[in-house]
Amino acid sequence: MSGAAVVVEHVRKSFEGGRIRALEDVSLTLEPGELVALTGPSGCGKSTLLNLIGALDRPDAGEIRVDGKDVGRLEDPSGYRAGTVGFVFQFHNLMTTLTALENVQVPMLGRRSRGAREERARSLLAEVGLRERMESYPPTLSGGERQRVALARALANGPRLLLADEPTGALDSDTGAQILDLIRRIREEHGMTVLLVTNDDDVAAQAERILRIRDGVLAAPPAQQTVLNGIPGARESIARGREQFGRGEGIPLDEL
Ligand SMILES: Nc1ncnc2c1ncn2[C@@H]1O[C@H](COP(=O)(O)OP(=O)(O)OP(=O)(O)O)[C@@H](O)[C@H]1O
Ligand SMILES: [Mg+2]
Repeated sequence: MSGAAVVVEHVRKSFEGGRIRALEDVSLTLEPGELVALTGPSGCGKSTLLNLIGALDRPDAGEIRVDGKDVGRLEDPSGYRAGTVGFVFQFHNLMTTLTALENVQVPMLGRRSRGAREERARSLLAEVGLRERMESYPPTLSGGERQRVALARALANGPRLLLADEPTGALDSDTGAQILDLIRRIREEHGMTVLLVTNDDDVAAQAERILRIRDGVLAAPPAQQTVLNGIPGARESIARGREQFGRGEGIPLDEL
């Protein structure tokens, strides 16, 4: 397996009929197999960008190509989401009524036989160090353990692109560091491209490249990359945006 090449070109995204401009003219490139951190203050458009790259939403303008395919105009975005992309969300987003083993199998439903699904889920959970907790339900797991289940779930279909939105954000720094080590090790073994949103400088420092968004501008080279979020009222709607993303995060489940 190899990592996906990601090219984001002049992407714009606004909400509420254009009143909230979350992304304006964003361009960036991720080389296959690269581990890149995306940092920046709350509300600057990081999750929006991840959602667009993961085809959970479509850009208003511009183009996002993953291995040459324009993911904003896919006929089968759910196939792309399930087959190419692995998502890890800030608050794991696991189904509480399913065991760890069942959660990891969800993205494989309809894609592998029951036996193959379970075998792969077991091996992924072992890989993230949860051999002993496979039959446990998420509410009985620690925060770090839940994030490891979420990581195993994201890896279920062998994604070539791992999108991780603050995967360590809800964890203490030691546990966060462990999750990051795990992501790095898995990236080395599987060779996928990783885009990691984080507000933790220690976490970002471990990436090969850091894209920083500050005051609405993507401050890392290339210099022309910009993310604008300068309009009044935008930051006040972060909570609402989060609610919306909560819904977005649930999308793949019934489509897989
Ligand atoms: N579905 C939505 N409807 C309206 N506004 C939205 C929506 N999604 C995001 N926004 C707004 O777009 C801007 C960017 O939001 P986004 O969630 O991408 O920021 P972020 O950088 O991920 O922030 P955080 O660090 O707090 O997670 C914010 O002003 C947010 O309120
Ligand atoms: Mg966010």
